[in-house]
Amino acid sequence: MVSGYRIATIPGDGIGVDVTAEAVRVLDAVLPGLEWTEFEWSCENYLRTGAMMPQDGAEQLAGFDAILLGAVGFPGVADHVSLWGLLIPLRRAFGQYVNLRPVRLLPGTQSALRDRTAADLDILIVRENSEGEYSRIGGIHNEGRPDEFVLQESVFTRTGCERIIRYAFERAAERSGQLCSATKSNGIIHSMPYWDSVFERIAVEYPQVSTRQMHVDALAAELVLHPDRLDVIVGSNLFGDILSDLAAAVTGGLGLAPSGNINPDRIAPSMFEAVHGSAPDIAGQGIANPVAQILAGAMLLDHLGEATAAAAVDRAVCDVLATGETLTPDLGGTATTADLGAAIAARAAELARRPAGVDPR
Ligand code: NAI
Ligand code: MG
Repeated sequence: MVSGYRIATIPGDGIGVDVTAEAVRVLDAVLPGLEWTEFEWSCENYLRTGAMMPQDGAEQLAGFDAILLGAVGFPGVADHVSLWGLLIPLRRAFGQYVNLRPVRLLPGTQSALRDRTAADLDILIVRENSEGEYSRIGGIHNEGRPDEFVLQESVFTRTGCERIIRYAFERAAERSGQLCSATKSNGIIHSMPYWDSVFERIAVEYPQVSTRQMHVDALAAELVLHPDRLDVIVGSNLFGDILSDLAAAVTGGLGLAPSGNINPDRIAPSMFEAVHGSAPDIAGQGIANPVAQILAGAMLLDHLGEATAAAAVDRAVCDVLATGETLTPDLGGTATTADLGAAIAARAAELARRPAGVDPR
């Protein structure tokens, strides 16, 4: 069977390039016929042309079935330039208002929570991805004077809050029936009480889901101390961002954590990426862990409706990590990015070749 999906890749900067190559290799191993188109949009492109991507970048991508993004950002270009020049405009142009970040304890990895087992830690973080604290509204005033000050506004719209919270309730209803909302209504006295009120209003529609609302600082501690008490977490753009880096770190590092920027209405392509950035400190050494980007590829397949291929990738990652033979340095091994990618691709191809009807799990 040949799939015929058209997928855009933006490898970007630093290790984004290496880990994306491995994700492509693994996806090709489970699903023949994927049609890849690579876009060389990056900080290098910015230094050459003055823009991270062309003016019509979003239009160029609009016709693809999905986008696989490496990471953007590199020393020499300010982080707000690279972020606002590519990632944030694409998330918004395509209405990818959900940022979905699964956090699991994978077999064979050394976690900060090493006495826990995989069953104790399987969390889905639903991060608002289009508004909130990441806003352009604000500015610097009285610049250069002693009374200089800066304002940075947050934007919480009714539509934006309702749709992300409802999406999280839907996911919670499919999983354990538990949802925790990250708030900070004690310190942030306008936007967070508003977020809480929307959460409480939507909760009434989902009597089967049990809910908690926790201040984000206490929730951060809960994630480390009692991850087994958490299943689905919903948070604003900033809170979701910070909680998912924390969650990734406690499960064994940023090299393992995937994410999806999802347009649930499917009127525009969704975009899949690792949670980590371009890691300039290890860029060019060939030692980045490709697992996060490979799992982002599995999320991409799942989004396209290719559940069997996605499960084969997921299972291949778990099998290879569990043997502990091919691990990158962040996992305590000596393998290269390509070694680990090739091992996962080989195992994924083996699983994908099993006759139809045999669940690779
Ligand atoms: P980072 O995630 O790139 O790196 C943080 C630390 O984790 C580094 O020590 C790095 O070596 C390690 N690390 C990350 N991914 C790894 C992997 N796959 N294997 C092994 N080790 C890994 O975050 P940092 O250093 O704050 O940002 C670097 C650049 O990346 C910045 O320009 C930033 O703006 C950009 N960035 C881009 C993102 C995106 O495109 N979505 C997300 C986060 C950062
Ligand atoms: Mg982040």
